[in-house]
Amino acid sequence: MRTILLASAASLLIGASAQAAGMTIGFSQIGSESGWRAAETSVTKQQAEKRGVDLKFADAQQKQENQIKAIRGFIAQGVDAIFVAPVVATGWEAVLTEAKEAKIPVFLLDRGIDGPDDLYTTMVASDQVLEGKVAGQWLVKDVAGKNCNVVELQGTTGSSPAINRKKGFEEAIAGASSIKIIRSQTGDFTRAKGKEVMEGFLKAENGGKNICALYAHNDDMAVGAIQAIKEAGLKPGTDIKVVSIDAVPDIFKALAAGEANATVELTPNMAGPAFDALEKLKKDGTVPPKTIITESKLYTQADDPMKVYEAKKGLGY
Ligand code: AHR
Repeated sequence: MRTILLASAASLLIGASAQAAGMTIGFSQIGSESGWRAAETSVTKQQAEKRGVDLKFADAQQKQENQIKAIRGFIAQGVDAIFVAPVVATGWEAVLTEAKEAKIPVFLLDRGIDGPDDLYTTMVASDQVLEGKVAGQWLVKDVAGKNCNVVELQGTTGSSPAINRKKGFEEAIAGASSIKIIRSQTGDFTRAKGKEVMEGFLKAENGGKNICALYAHNDDMAVGAIQAIKEAGLKPGTDIKVVSIDAVPDIFKALAAGEANATVELTPNMAGPAFDALEKLKKDGTVPPKTIITESKLYTQADDPMKVYEAKKGLGY
């Protein structure tokens, strides 16, 4: 009897602390393709710990089918909410309808999806078209009317940032007839693929002599491409201008060394605003806005890159 009482007291205590600690949230992450992605994972874990949330983390290894499986697992466990960074934009209707029917709110982190927006509660993301625009506007200003052949390293095919960052950049250069995108291929948001694809661009374009600028949809691909440019005997940042997106620490090293020219910042803290919105929703039913947009700030060599590099430490990097 005594044992039973102790056990129930213990379970009550555990119950109380679990309640105080808050919710159980399933997080389906894409993988670890980039420095930014790793930082987003680590910030999400830090935020969960700070708030006493029990975070069930699932790494999808870049595969949508793994994400769908993980989400179904979270639904079966009856989590309080699901966070998902969707690897591609299409193919979510069935599984997110299941979450909706189970009354589990879904928060999209950093990437959008196609389809009806009642499939999720809120999306926390940057304005990815704007990111592409900011990068393109920087280039338009930098080349100041001179002819410029651009090569583009796209992100993961079918992902919202690859689609939108391409669109935004093209919109920004549309009025500048001297700027042309001469080659565009996916580098899958990875450093290794960015290097490999850039090597192909350099070979195909007279060893790189026909190329004036590289636009990479993320910094990791830019860092890989910078290596390829150096190996081809050219100076990145001078012979070939480099503009990209994310603002990871390594790109600030490249900016400081004169090997990159500009980057557009993407905060890895997507989870913070998502947790805030979820807490309000659970507390008093406050329905969060459909999209929570994070800032897209441009950094160039003029922005004291090593100082920013130092400041980035501890922000998940
Ligand atoms: O969805 C955000 C993008 O995904 C980041 O820019 C990139 O680095 C990551 O892989």
